[in-house]
Amino acid sequence: MKAKSRKPGQIIEEFDVTDKKGEVHHVVFRYPRMSDVGDLLRYINTLVGERAYIARQKKVSRKEEVGWLKKRIRSLKKGNSVHVCMEVDGRVVGSASIDRKTLDAKRHVGKFAIGVAREYRSLGLGRRVFNAMAKEARKSGIRLVQSSYYEWNKPSEKLHKSLGFRVAGRIPKAVGYYGKYGDEIIVYKELKR
Ligand SMILES: CC(C)(COP(=O)(O)OP(=O)(O)OC[C@H]1O[C@@H](n2cnc3c(N)ncnc32)[C@H](O)[C@@H]1OP(=O)(O)O)[C@@H](O)C(=O)NCCC(=O)NCCS
Repeated sequence: MKAKSRKPGQIIEEFDVTDKKGEVHHVVFRYPRMSDVGDLLRYINTLVGERAYIARQKKVSRKEEVGWLKKRIRSLKKGNSVHVCMEVDGRVVGSASIDRKTLDAKRHVGKFAIGVAREYRSLGLGRRVFNAMAKEARKSGIRLVQSSYYEWNKPSEKLHKSLGFRVAGRIPKAVGYYGKYGDEIIVYKELKR
């Protein structure tokens, strides 16, 4: 399976989007670079602060974020990850990735993850970034994308459905969310030509 090395900071798509108030914003989808650490830290801690339906529930320190970003860039360069920063008007406000599974039998499978800062949700960025990443992932041999969301996460359910993901099943109480348990919905999508 070919691994396609990717360059930190490289732009994969650029366009303008109009928000609900009619303001136009410039959007850039590009691979991360080390200088994104401040924006990414602010972004993840804002999601933690709003108790978003994501796996992380404790605020992240700058040191942790630096370590995480270094690993992400390493994986990007090795060709095992398509990680995209969503930059709006020059600031990173979202992050999404398709990460290749590395065991021999699973190298054609990628795991999808995504988050967008609240102010920029429902503008189509989630849909658009997935489609851009899927194109790149396919080039490096990924044929199947796996993902999941928590039972309460309606926006994520809608996003996955509109992208053509199909439900494989649900794991009861697989998610611990601030004192309660919930089901995790497991979904998949084949990447066709
Ligand atoms: C889930 C999330 C990534 C969606 O991103 P987004 O950029 O807002 O999604 P889009 O604007 O591309 O919308 C995609 C679909 O979801 C729907 N959607 C978006 N926000 C929604 C909301 N608040 N309620 C219901 N549906 C919503 C859109 O209508 C669209 O469906 P359509 O194409 O049939 O019209 C975003 O809500 C988010 O970051 N949430 C917090 C973190 C999170 O939950 N991450 C996912 C973990 S699995």
